[in-house]
Amino acid sequence: MEQKWWKEKVAYQIYPKSFMDSNDDGIGDIQGIISKLDYLQQLGIDLIWLNPIYKSGTADNGYDVIDYYEIMEQFGNHEDFDKLVREAKKRGIGIMLDLILNHTSNKHKWFLEALNNPNSKYRDYYIIRKGNNHRPPNNWRSIFGGSIWQEIGSSNEFYLHSFAKEQPDLNWENPEVRQELYKMINWWIARGVKGFRLDAINCIKKSDFSEQGIPDAADGLCNCFKYIREVDGVEEYYKELRQNTFDKYDCLTVTEAVGVEKEKLGNYIGENGNFSMMFNFDITYIDVINEDWFRRTNWTKKEFKQKFIESQLNIKNLGWQAQFIENHDQPRAVNKYIKDETQINYYSKTMLAVMYFFVKGTPFIYQGQEIGMENFKRKSIDEFDDINSISQYKRAIKEGYTSEQALEFINKRSRDNARTPMQWSDEANAGFSKVQPWIKLNENYKNINLRQDQKSDKSIFNFYKQMINLRKTSKYSNTIIYGDFEPIDIQDDEIIAYRRKDENYDLKIICNFSNKEKELNLKYEEVILNNYNEASNILKPYQAIIVL
Ligand code: GLC
Ligand code: CA
Repeated sequence: MEQKWWKEKVAYQIYPKSFMDSNDDGIGDIQGIISKLDYLQQLGIDLIWLNPIYKSGTADNGYDVIDYYEIMEQFGNHEDFDKLVREAKKRGIGIMLDLILNHTSNKHKWFLEALNNPNSKYRDYYIIRKGNNHRPPNNWRSIFGGSIWQEIGSSNEFYLHSFAKEQPDLNWENPEVRQELYKMINWWIARGVKGFRLDAINCIKKSDFSEQGIPDAADGLCNCFKYIREVDGVEEYYKELRQNTFDKYDCLTVTEAVGVEKEKLGNYIGENGNFSMMFNFDITYIDVINEDWFRRTNWTKKEFKQKFIESQLNIKNLGWQAQFIENHDQPRAVNKYIKDETQINYYSKTMLAVMYFFVKGTPFIYQGQEIGMENFKRKSIDEFDDINSISQYKRAIKEGYTSEQALEFINKRSRDNARTPMQWSDEANAGFSKVQPWIKLNENYKNINLRQDQKSDKSIFNFYKQMINLRKTSKYSNTIIYGDFEPIDIQDDEIIAYRRKDENYDLKIICNFSNKEKELNLKYEEVILNNYNEASNILKPYQAIIVL
């Protein structure tokens, strides 16, 4: 297995708006992040992925970019950013940016020009097609609900938006668009950025718009994934992209590409793959069908285990993944994966952590995960900020669910669950800000917060620190990073067990994914990590151990 600097790192994801507010306007900012770099260094991470900090229309909190070269005023300015890069570097931490290449904001100057002037070259920067008597060119549903097409005035001309109507898709068929994007990326690399997370990158190629889909919901539209994700030939764009940008530097790239089939993983991370790593989404949507939040599955542990192990076997000899259990689009992991709320505790949280942290790949930690932050139940739809939550709510109602049912779906899945402010302490506003934050705090902050956690003898933060140390600076580092992955065959759907092995060590990672005691028929000599004080041949509820 080839050695690469980014394989040996641990990354931390920051949602800038909700991490730390330095100037008391209720909105997190770059200076706030700088003030917490010591904290992150103490945790032991090496990379920070920042969710978008560009000037944005904020319809989708930064993912609708108005100007790729400008920093969102509320977050700070270029000086702040340079300081962040510098101060992070001093602490051995690299900064990664989010790259939104599939779409811009509808307020981006290119788009405004395209709308204002039908003869402008910017018209071809976007995807614009004639409708049919003011009806859209086809019946595809955008990812955030409603038609994927939006009429321009009453011109019978429509632009395509894979996500919200405020996020018109760029036309990757136009070479000039591609060049503009490469130029921008290189500009940020020159600013000292170490890597990028590529937003919705497998959506940049679209299939033939003449194809109508079979309606699959009450809105009469059809899911668009088949037409806009992983369209044949998309890898040609990847290749040109990297050759014009990342390849020239030792830049780390990690893709957000959901729904990539096994056969196509090589385009991403195979020998001739186009990126450093890709996020592993194999278990992420186990609780819903087609990412529709009201279509809930009744997933089982058996299925979970199968998917989890399979996803590792798929890449075992292929390439490198980024491993995660939480991000800004997902509910908190404990709330998703531990179905019985009474079992959400220190043990289940640390067990989930061990499970994903030691498979092959670079682990990513989402802010607050390291102190066991949880979902926040809201009582009315008005309390939500996330554009997708509101759309999913409306769709659920349209499907015939009551408002209570719809609210329950949204509470389970809302992206706002992960976007509540970081809980630093039990002081006013959880120590995030002196004023009321832009989004409601999780009411549990008096009990769940960093200060409290660090005082506890069951500190989740300390456990994460321990995991990071084990991975980065112990005599097992090489085995954990580069060792082989092999599942351990234990005939119990509630025990997830695998080994990481090289010529020096044979580490066994064993997780009890249940609140029951479990007998373990496996001999071991030494315990290297344990979320309980003791280990025996009886696994305790949600016990996780690494043994030799
Ligand atoms: C990605 C982002 C998500 C955003 C969407 C549109 O899925 O993670 O937050 O809403 O792309 O840019
Ligand atoms: Ca602020």
